[in-house]
Amino acid sequence: MLLKDKVAVVTGSAQGIGKATALRLAKEGAKVVISDLNEEGISRTLKEFEEWGYEAIGVKADVSRHEDAQRLVEETVRSFGAIHILVNNAGITRDSLLVRMSEADWDAVIAVNLKGVFNCTKAAVRYMAKQRYGRIINIASIVGEMGNVGQANYAASKAGVIGFTKVVAREFATRNITCNAVAPGFIVTAMTEKLPEKVKETLIAQIPMERLGTPEDVANGVLFLASDLAGYITGQVLNINGGMYM
Ligand SMILES: NC(=O)c1ccc[n+]([C@@H]2O[C@H](COP(=O)([O-])OP(=O)(O)OC[C@H]3O[C@@H](n4cnc5c(N)ncnc54)[C@H](O)[C@@H]3O)[C@@H](O)[C@H]2O)c1
Repeated sequence: MLLKDKVAVVTGSAQGIGKATALRLAKEGAKVVISDLNEEGISRTLKEFEEWGYEAIGVKADVSRHEDAQRLVEETVRSFGAIHILVNNAGITRDSLLVRMSEADWDAVIAVNLKGVFNCTKAAVRYMAKQRYGRIINIASIVGEMGNVGQANYAASKAGVIGFTKVVAREFATRNITCNAVAPGFIVTAMTEKLPEKVKETLIAQIPMERLGTPEDVANGVLFLASDLAGYITGQVLNINGGMYM
């Protein structure tokens, strides 16, 4: 049990990488907060966690809203008495070529993927600093490192997350709070399901391991960074991409 008695919040955890991460942390003994915009998704996931015998609560929160992020952290502390681990996972795409990208699509992606990370981190570090312990893991993307046609908004948000991660790592290092990013490659979830088969084939041809990743591949990396095994690792980007970018 790597995370016995730890309390972990995972944003966007009703499905996909967030859900797999929450489950991975729970299996190691963490009490988890399933947080998402999708209320139905939260209930469904929470039911599964309860059936499996894991300690979990659900909190509906839109990470792009500052007051929702505050409430998420407050409800966590009220229910479980602390917040040790924050996984900033909630994210969206609104893809199109730059010439066709609307201001609304730009703003929406930045609001969730970048401002959301700011909102939740700011709310959580207050408690983490007081308790002199914290693990913050931000889910970035290979696209924030390499760029990708049609994803100017998304790439900018994820590159922003990497920069933000390094600042938080520096500002809170003496408080025993580590902050790292995980940059997944292309992972089989609802987000990549939307891609046409032809695009998937082209992607796989660029991956040395010749397959897309699974949510569990990402969850295992998050678990490591959330655990005490990674106590001297901060400000880093862990690439989980089958060798697609190195
Ligand atoms: N799937 C991939 O290939 C891939 C690759 C690299 C990075 N990522 C990143 O991993 C994270 C999870 O992606 P996924 O593939 O599991 O996506 P997903 O679409 O399956 O899940 C995202 C979850 O976030 C929730 N969400 C969306 N907006 C929200 C908001 N404003 N507040 C709270 N929750 C919100 C959704 O309801 C959903 O449950 C994202 O940050 C994504 O950018 C995914």
